[in-house]
Amino acid sequence: MGQLVIVSNRVAIPEKNAKARAGGLEVAVEAALRHKTGIWFGWSGKVAPTHTKIATQKVVHDEITYITLDLSKEDHQEYYNGFTNRVLWPILHYRIDLAEFSRRDLSGYLRVNDHFARELHEVLGPDDFIWVHDYHLIPLAKALRERGHKNRIGFFLHIPFPPPEILTALPHHERLIPSLCEYDLVGFQTGDDAFNFSRYLTRECGLPSRDFNFVVGDRTMRIDVFPVGIETAAFAELAQRSVRLPFVKRVITSLAGRALIIGVDRLDYSKGIGHRLSAFELFLQRQPQWLGKVTYLQIATKSRTEIPEYADIERDIGSAAGRINGAFGEADWTPIRYINHPYSHSTLAGLYRAARVGLVTPLRDGMNLVAKEYVASQNPDDPGVLILSRFAGASHECKAALLVNPYDPDSVAAAIAQALSMPLAERRERHNSLFRVLSHNDIQHWAERFLAALERKPNAIGQLGQMPSVGS
Ligand code: G6P
Repeated sequence: MGQLVIVSNRVAIPEKNAKARAGGLEVAVEAALRHKTGIWFGWSGKVAPTHTKIATQKVVHDEITYITLDLSKEDHQEYYNGFTNRVLWPILHYRIDLAEFSRRDLSGYLRVNDHFARELHEVLGPDDFIWVHDYHLIPLAKALRERGHKNRIGFFLHIPFPPPEILTALPHHERLIPSLCEYDLVGFQTGDDAFNFSRYLTRECGLPSRDFNFVVGDRTMRIDVFPVGIETAAFAELAQRSVRLPFVKRVITSLAGRALIIGVDRLDYSKGIGHRLSAFELFLQRQPQWLGKVTYLQIATKSRTEIPEYADIERDIGSAAGRINGAFGEADWTPIRYINHPYSHSTLAGLYRAARVGLVTPLRDGMNLVAKEYVASQNPDDPGVLILSRFAGASHECKAALLVNPYDPDSVAAAIAQALSMPLAERRERHNSLFRVLSHNDIQHWAERFLAALERKPNAIGQLGQMPSVGS
């Protein structure tokens, strides 16, 4: 049996004093690899100075070999800032209006995928299982197959997959999306995402589906749903310890008995932070009895700062927070504490536990692990309340949260009021139900289910369709 080879754009190389996590993928893959052996391959996170030869770096740690490569300036611009984050990210999050397509960026994207395949080619054995993560690497299996690799290759999309009516607005989608058929298994966060992909294949490629199995040439490609989880039990223990950290204790003291509402996000337009601030403002207007008695802590870590849409949102949200504080604050009370730098895992766990309300209201999100971490952090005897957007993948599992429509500020404001005054018995009941779901589908379960499905040979189901020719 071969080894497990994980491929993702971001790689979390274990480092002393590592900075806080960049996003859900790194956290999930890192946890999934715990107690496993294999390779984790991807971008180093660095841009190589012009005219230097780009070499791969290798580090071995706890039986995992981390192989990373730098990107050239051009690759970083076209592949990362360009096609993945200004085209695929907005479109896959249903924001066609924000997509900025250029042919040059698409060719940079294909070039980097090809480069990854070339480097992987040097290390892959014939029996290795390859698990590719996220939208940066859609054409990677195709690039590997072109080099003759017949390995089992799986793909997991951490972010949403929109319906074909939206996806077909992506220029050259017919060149890119069908290349997912080169994988043996394609995993999604929710049934809706899987169904959208299945509809795309049927509508755009004429591939009929039987139970999410598609015959593509002489192979079968399967689609399935694998909602990503967290290390639920370990996170709960961490939160119990972290609430006693000196910094967390200082924050709690600084609240002077006020109820804490917490939001933690990458500063990204998909997270709905602007809508959330408006809803909080409405709550302060409608529920004046809470003035001076509640503090909303919004941690919004800067992200993808070279991309104009991210600079815009940084400016807009900063000024909205300032405006609300100016309008409602007092010399001895600031309603919103708005912070742009990241906190460590353990500090966040402690802050989650101290918060009466977790406010997680993305406009669209593949899963949202903050929602799950907030639940896992709560004291079961006196738990806080999760307010969760119905457009986060997590809402499919977290049905006992207060589910809201983030586009409707009235409903979010009402949910904040409801959460703050929810009786203990109801809070316990909801928390108990949420915690049970998250304990069952934790991160290990997620990884094991995906890998077991990848190893499993598909059922013989007969020829269903022909793969359309996919341009290179
Ligand atoms: C999301 C994506 C990840 C990505 C992360 C952080 O969680 O699904 O693939 O790594 O955001 O974004 P960044 O662009 O910093 O990698």
